[in-house]
Order: sequence, then C-alpha cells, then structure tokens
Amino acid sequence: HIDRAIRPLSLAEYIGQPVVREQMTLFIEAAKKREEALDHTLIFGPPGLGKTTLANIIAQEMGVSLKSTSGPVLERPGDLAALLTNLEEGDVLFIDEIHRLPPIVEEVLYPAMEDFQLDIMIGEGPAARSIKLDLPVFTLVGATTRAGMLTNPLRDRFGIVQRLEFYNDKDLTTIVARSGGILNMPIEQDGAYEIARRARGTPRIANRLLRRVRDFAQVRGTGHITQTIANQALNLLDVDEHGFDHQDRRLLLAMIEKFDGGPVGIDSLAAAISEERHTIEDVLEPYLIQQGFIMRTPRGRVVTRHAYLHFGLNLPERLQDVA
Ligand code: ADE
Repeated sequence: HIDRAIRPLSLAEYIGQPVVREQMTLFIEAAKKREEALDHTLIFGPPGLGKTTLANIIAQEMGVSLKSTSGPVLERPGDLAALLTNLEEGDVLFIDEIHRLPPIVEEVLYPAMEDFQLDIMIGEGPAARSIKLDLPVFTLVGATTRAGMLTNPLRDRFGIVQRLEFYNDKDLTTIVARSGGILNMPIEQDGAYEIARRARGTPRIANRLLRRVRDFAQVRGTGHITQTIANQALNLLDVDEHGFDHQDRRLLLAMIEKFDGGPVGIDSLAAAISEERHTIEDVLEPYLIQQGFIMRTPRGRVVTRHAYLHFGLNLPERLQDVA
C-alpha cells in the first residue's frame, strides 16, 4: 500500500519535529544500552501528524514487534488481556485513541503498566475468580489527539510524553519531495512547496494532496508537478491560498456571520455548522488556532482580525483599533 511505502521506518528518516526526534533518539539509545524495554510513551497531537508512524519507528528502532489496537476496540477487560498475554518480552503495544478506553479496561491497564501484572476477574456470581498473571515487560505507546482528555492516573503512568506539532512549510516540503521521489513522481521543488504550504501543516494531508495533484498533472498537464500545476490543482480541490479547506472556511464564516465573530460556545458552533463538537475540537480548530485565526477565551471562541481580512471583510469595531 502507498501509505506504507512513504512512511519513514527510522528516526534518521523522520523529518521535522526536532525536539521529539532528539529526545526519542536519546531515550531509545539509553534503553538499548541498558538492555531494557523503553518506558511507556504517550504521543499526543492533532490527527495526521504521524503518531502511528512514530509508534512504528519506536518498535523498529528497539528491534521489537509492534501489536496495534485502539481504545474503542477494547470493549472489555478480556480484550486487553488477550493482547497483553500475547506480547513477547520488550514488545510495543500501541493503543491509538487511548482516551477512548472504557474505564473498566483502563483499570486493567494500570497494574499491567506499573508491575507487568495482569489482574482480572473471570466468570460471574459465586463462580467468579480473580486471576493474576505475570506479563512480559513491554512498552505501551499510547496516542491521543489531546492529552487533556486522559485521566490523571493514566497520564501519570507514562514515563515519556511527546507532543507532535504542526510541521513548518520547509519540513513539509521535504516530506512531499521525499514522497514524490519514493512514488516516482516527477516533482519540482516549487511544486512540492506549493502543496506543502497548503496542507494545514499535516503530512497526511500533504501526501493526499500530492496524489490528487499528480492526477491533475497527468490529465491536464505533462505529468510534471510544477508550481503552476500544483496551484491549479489545489484551486480545483477547493483548498485556498492559506491551505484552508471548505470546512475551515465554513467554520470561520459561521463565527463571523452568525455570531458576530464570537465569543461563541463550542456546542452552539457545532450546531450552526452541523459538525460534531469533537471534530471541531480535534481536527478543525487546532490549526486555525495555531495560525492565529481563532482564539479560545473563557467565554468561548472568537475569530481574530486575520479571519475578516482573509475573506476581504471589513473589521468590526472591536478589532478596528488593534494595531
Ligand atoms: N511522513 C509522515 N510524517 C513524516 C515525517 N515526520 N518524516 C517523513 N515522512 C513522513
């Protein structure tokens, strides 16, 4: 599969996120020197920035296998127990969306993380028994969009916590050029930059746009991805000059037109654009906040002057005397 081919397999191939890269390189080297499993690691950040990729790299660099699951899939303690008892010494257990683990499953995870002990009840009523099993020493890698959604006891059990940031244009250009190279696409540096700067700071989006721009280049052009071709293709895809897509613009315009720029509560906003509150919080809003188009205040979200200027609208009075 295409996504597998372009995923980096080592920290040396991993582009951007310099703090994460330097820290993880060090922690992995130290754990290997001591011949120990790596400490449990929590990775958080918006979708598409490479949390799963990083988990795979950790396993690869440690020379162990990775078993992968996600919070909502683990409905009962037995589901987690089955995975834990199948691990080999040192393995990585990756739990995506770990904030969505049911509380009864989370309770099984605590002694597993801390003492590598499985402690569960089997059966019901008078025949119910509690069993304790020793587990192999393993590394839990948990991923979540927001660290604030984890319970404190769970967060406290991770020895390493990494936050992935949106990529800058330079690093994202390198990622697009690298993907183009692996997939044998003729792509110019300017073409890679045009895709990168309109990809919401997100490798997954950049790689998806790259494939759509290639479609455009092959049908409407010579197959070469130039800046002009990328620009035309992205306009057709409804990605604007700032990299905002249809949903981003809908959110900003709703705030301006229906709520006078805010403050507006998240649930009112969700209702106004018929979008899930969590999609706004996890997917749409983080980039708009990072770019300075939205601010969170104690009374709700407000748009900044950049939002009005983006749409060529006049600034409201509250923003007019801002320098
Ligand atoms: N693809 C997704 N994330 C990447 C990264 N950080 N480096 C290289 N390729 C990537």
